[in-house]
Amino acid sequence: MSGMFIRPAKALQGKIALPGDKSISHRAALLSAMAVGVTRIDNFATSADCVSTLECLKRLGVEVGRDGTTVTIRGSGKTGFRQADGHLDCGNSGTTMRLLTGILAGQGFESVLTGDDSLRSRPMQRVIRPLAAMGAAIDSESDRAPLTVHGSKTLRAIAYRPEVASAQIKSCVLLAGLNAQGETSVIEAVATRDHTERMLRWLGVDVRETRADDATKISVSGESVLTAKNLTVPADISAGAFFMVAAACLPGSHIAIQNVGLNPTRSAIIDVLSRNFGAAIEVSEQHELNNEPVGTMIVRGGLMPQQSNQIEGRMVSDLIDEIPVLAVFGTQLEGGLEVRDAAELRVKESDRIATVVENLKRMGADVEEFEDGFLVRKSRLRGARVDSFGDHRIAMAFAVAGLLAEGETEIAGADCAAVSFPGFFEVLQNAIVYQ
Ligand code: S3P
Repeated sequence: MSGMFIRPAKALQGKIALPGDKSISHRAALLSAMAVGVTRIDNFATSADCVSTLECLKRLGVEVGRDGTTVTIRGSGKTGFRQADGHLDCGNSGTTMRLLTGILAGQGFESVLTGDDSLRSRPMQRVIRPLAAMGAAIDSESDRAPLTVHGSKTLRAIAYRPEVASAQIKSCVLLAGLNAQGETSVIEAVATRDHTERMLRWLGVDVRETRADDATKISVSGESVLTAKNLTVPADISAGAFFMVAAACLPGSHIAIQNVGLNPTRSAIIDVLSRNFGAAIEVSEQHELNNEPVGTMIVRGGLMPQQSNQIEGRMVSDLIDEIPVLAVFGTQLEGGLEVRDAAELRVKESDRIATVVENLKRMGADVEEFEDGFLVRKSRLRGARVDSFGDHRIAMAFAVAGLLAEGETEIAGADCAAVSFPGFFEVLQNAIVYQ
């Protein structure tokens, strides 16, 4: 893997072109494959993870066309898939594996899903358990991929309360529920990103939501029919977070991001940066794109005294993908930053608590590691050789650290940024104003 060198920056400026949202692109591909008819998806993510999803669909007999960022999918309905000859390779993508397993649980054939070393080390019991309760048998290697899914055409509906707050578990169960007899529900104590629900509604499915005892029950019927309808994917706010943090920390910065996704289950990064840390972020031109709120965002450099230096409890789920770059942000804050209740970070593409703490230490930051998070104190960062540990968000978070450090930073294995953002380093380079 290649190393990438980052020099300290004075500011970020200009329009930042982000890729289409990764979470929404996965769902656009998977749900339009379950729909009846042809769907055109514009601004489909360039991310390698979303290519994994398209490749798996092709192997399952789905007609997929691609011209740049426009993807066309001919769906043959909820059970219109054909058995793949050979394994389905989900690459590095947990979302591909967990959501596809939900769809394949309701097909009348067997499938084997596998992935790279990172994905094969991640926990899959969280989807195996509910799908088994619905009547699909899934073999695994100690709850890890490869997963052999013995699909069943007679899935039973369940009401399921996931053990961890996870949109991937919720989506997996709801997608299986579309092929089950009766009404399948997921009961969420902590809300997670709701792109699956929004897109199902866009495609004509009645997704019911009821509140009970501080939880939300989300239900779909096995009778639902998905009808193809064109989609445009908003720009990925999680990819934008790296630029937002860098711009906020570098006085004199002024960046604009257009058509960025502002779904409330994803946009907590705006609230945290502006409300808690006084970053100057303006959102305008708000409108809806296929049930997803979007708008234009302007970020100007400069921070004000913070109101809270704690991320914990329910906040964690809304910021789960932004925590690596927030850790870097913590080194710039008077009171530092403490993250708690975030043990889920340990089972992401890398153990993100360990990898963030290790890299911050290499750059001379004052940081303490906890089982469920970390505490970063205000520190002067020194350029150093850090590692992506094969994790795209770690590579990009430490590119931001490199901009804020003294001296040069080398990121080993930086090319894994392409998992969510091919071209990240070029886009960053074009926005940098040097000292
Ligand atoms: C995702 C959900 C989150 C997130 C991941 C994408 C999704 O994972 O970290 O990058 O698209 O549903 P969990 O649902 O496991 O928290």
